[in-house]
Amino acid sequence: MSHPLSLITFLSLLFHFSTVAATTIGVTYMSSPGLPPPEEVVIILQSLKITAVRLPVADPNIIRAFSYTNISLFLSIPNSLIPSISANRSAASRWLYDHVIPFYPRAHITAISVGTNVLAEGDVTSADRVIPAIHNIHRSLIDMGIRQIMISTTFSFVNIMTTSFPPSSAEFQEPASNFIIKPLLDYLTETNSSFFVSLYPYSVYKLRPEIPIGFALFQEHAFNFREDTITGVRYRNLFDLMVDAVIAAMAVAGHENIPVVVAETGWPNFDPSNAVEARDVYSKMYLQGLVNHLRSGKGTPLRKEGVAEVYIYELFDTNDTATKGLKSDGTGQKWGFCYPNMSMKFEVGFCNGGSTMTVSAVKVVTEFLLLAIGLLISC
Ligand SMILES: *[C@@H]1O[C@H](CO)[C@@H](O)[C@H](O)[C@H]1NC(C)=O
Ligand SMILES: *[C@@H]1O[C@H](CO)[C@@H](O)[C@H](O)[C@H]1NC(C)=O
Ligand SMILES: *[C@@H]1O[C@H](CO)[C@@H](O)[C@H](O)[C@H]1NC(C)=O
Ligand SMILES: *[C@@H]1O[C@H](CO)[C@@H](O)[C@H](O)[C@H]1NC(C)=O
Ligand SMILES: *[C@@H]1O[C@H](CO)[C@@H](O)[C@H](O)[C@H]1NC(C)=O
Repeated sequence: MSHPLSLITFLSLLFHFSTVAATTIGVTYMSSPGLPPPEEVVIILQSLKITAVRLPVADPNIIRAFSYTNISLFLSIPNSLIPSISANRSAASRWLYDHVIPFYPRAHITAISVGTNVLAEGDVTSADRVIPAIHNIHRSLIDMGIRQIMISTTFSFVNIMTTSFPPSSAEFQEPASNFIIKPLLDYLTETNSSFFVSLYPYSVYKLRPEIPIGFALFQEHAFNFREDTITGVRYRNLFDLMVDAVIAAMAVAGHENIPVVVAETGWPNFDPSNAVEARDVYSKMYLQGLVNHLRSGKGTPLRKEGVAEVYIYELFDTNDTATKGLKSDGTGQKWGFCYPNMSMKFEVGFCNGGSTMTVSAVKVVTEFLLLAIGLLISC
């Protein structure tokens, strides 16, 4: 077995690009029956130099596949488990015994989101239980001697913000602000954790026809800016403007220094309700523009170091029961940038300015690695 390992090490050195990355760039990955097994997905992610993965469905077999890789994992606990976990410490421990303890630290789990988008469900009682559920997961982890995993919950930008124009006037919506966001911010400060938010310039762009598409797609043109009318700060892209709206709202709530993790962002390449902007060419522009912007290390006007992590939505088109993604009948939006055969729908370089391997090089390397592993194992 030493041969395939040294071969992989050699190839990863060969394709190593020394880039200074302020922000960790990851992808959202969900498995489904027509998709390759997680072991193969891990190899393609490594060849793309993707170092972080968000698993909305924390399947133990998938978590296991990331053992001994340098890819960090962001796990989510389903909303349906929040009532039992909030009521019962042993339910919290049980989830950790199934999803974390068998794999940690060989699988580099760095974050757990207790629920996703709970405010979108309009059920205030289940949202009410998020904070106690977070505390129970936190205490159980501490009892198990694990202190390095961040625990939080993921909000969706549109469900928590009053306005994003101008960003300096943004605040969190009531009643959510008082009953869930503020207690969460106190907890995040105490535990050095981060604020997780899903942020879609695509949705804001669709709602506000006056926004130029180039502003949403990171196209730098002389006229592609919006000025914050209160602070006079100029924004060159919608992503930064939305991030700063979140940071301004946190500051109003008394917590301006909490790191921000963008749990989801992306641009659909197919949307039955929008044949104009939901296309490969725009999806590629958004993703490459995002990566280049994050890699530039410029941060945002309100946060020089930028956001801590960003997870691109998503690796493959999946049947997501939420508001976006393919519906179970096979219709709906497509956000994935890879086909099920693991070739990319369009080229995106995750290192810097598209200077990474080309699609065909990725495929050749992947096929070669799989072949080499297969050959050496069969010997
Ligand atoms: C994994 O990451 C650590 C710390 O970032 C680094 O020291 C190590 O060389 C990496 N290993 C591989 C195989 O890339
Ligand atoms: C807590 O959960 C455990 C196992 O998950 C169960 O056996 C126990 O009855 C629960 N206790 C309460 C009070 O719900
Ligand atoms: C949070 O970080 C600060 C500074 O890095 C450290 O002093 C403190 O012990 C940390 N607190 C926790 C709960 O990890
Ligand atoms: C989504 O679900 C439909 C029906 O169950 C299935 O035909 C289709 O292959 C699924 N697509 C993906 C990407 O899982
Ligand atoms: C992968 O799948 C896509 C879409 O079905 C197809 O266009 C492409 O040719 C396939 N690539 C390979 C190498 O099979």
